[in-house]
Amino acid sequence: MKCKKCGQKAAVNMPQHRLALCKEHYLEWIPEQTERFIRKYRMFTYADRVLVAVSGGKDSLSLWDILWRLGYRADGLYIALGIDEGIGYSAESQRLTEQFAAERGLRLHVVDVRAETGKTIPEWAALTLRGREKPCAVCGLVKRHEMNRIARDLGYDVLATGHNLDDEVAVLFGNTLNWAVGYLLRQGPVLEERDGLARKVKPLCRFYEREMTAYALLRGIEYIYEECPFSVGSTSIQYKEWLNQLENERPGTKLSFYLSFLEAKEKGLFARPQEEGELHPCRRCGQPTSAPDLCAYCRMLEKAHPIPAEQVE
Ligand code: AMP
Ligand code: FES
Ligand code: ZN
Ligand code: ZN
Repeated sequence: MKCKKCGQKAAVNMPQHRLALCKEHYLEWIPEQTERFIRKYRMFTYADRVLVAVSGGKDSLSLWDILWRLGYRADGLYIALGIDEGIGYSAESQRLTEQFAAERGLRLHVVDVRAETGKTIPEWAALTLRGREKPCAVCGLVKRHEMNRIARDLGYDVLATGHNLDDEVAVLFGNTLNWAVGYLLRQGPVLEERDGLARKVKPLCRFYEREMTAYALLRGIEYIYEECPFSVGSTSIQYKEWLNQLENERPGTKLSFYLSFLEAKEKGLFARPQEEGELHPCRRCGQPTSAPDLCAYCRMLEKAHPIPAEQVE
């Protein structure tokens, strides 16, 4: 295989795009494409302050690297979840994230869930779920809350996450199996700001997972190889395996499934007069919620420390 641009030996072959590139041209191509997606979906401009949620994994660190190289005003946010599971998962991902920021002189905010809430994610899961389920739902809730809080309190214009095409297609597949119209309506490269919920964007949503792995490796980014230990056996990993089988048979299937979905949405396929339940501020933390009084995050906190009525307005 030869690089399409210079004819040298190709480092990455992408049959789904009928494109092969050498290392140098690949490292140029990914940021160029990212820039194109940022403009196409009107994600943000050079004037905006972007908060990149970084987990220490290949996708979010590569995203931060790309935005920095493109010259965007991008700071990082790392949420220390307190997940150890014998491999020091959170400690190692935090170390790699801090090292990445220091090497490039980038600004990183670190939020420690234990310091914020008194417990780690596995401890919250043990308390609220009594060990019956995996902590992923509790973890997702806390991550969303903290990302939104920091973006809002520190005045960022937009929150960017490292979701790649494989992530998006797995979610799309799950939502389609259930015809979860409400979720389908909200899925896409941009989620507009709504009643105090930060604007969210996914600049990597059109890159295959293997394209991001290749970028991180060729760029020499040190990232955590392990997936979260709790993700083992999850439905989304199962979906990803099935989708990979489809992709192997027919290269391009994942991308066309996602792009056709976006096109169908654009044409109004899912646009039905849908009551977007009213949001109002949570009594305790002030973040928007559809629940009548406390948001799901504060209801979780209350299980450990009931909030005295006079503390809240
Ligand atoms: P995941 O749900 O683990 O696939 O992560 C999806 C995206 O959420 C990542 O690409 C990051 O942008 C963000 N994210 C995940 N974990 C963290 C974390 N601990 N701190 C900050 N951002 C995170
Ligand atoms: Fe949150 Fe795995 S439980 S990242
Ligand atoms: Zn080349
Ligand atoms: Zn709340």
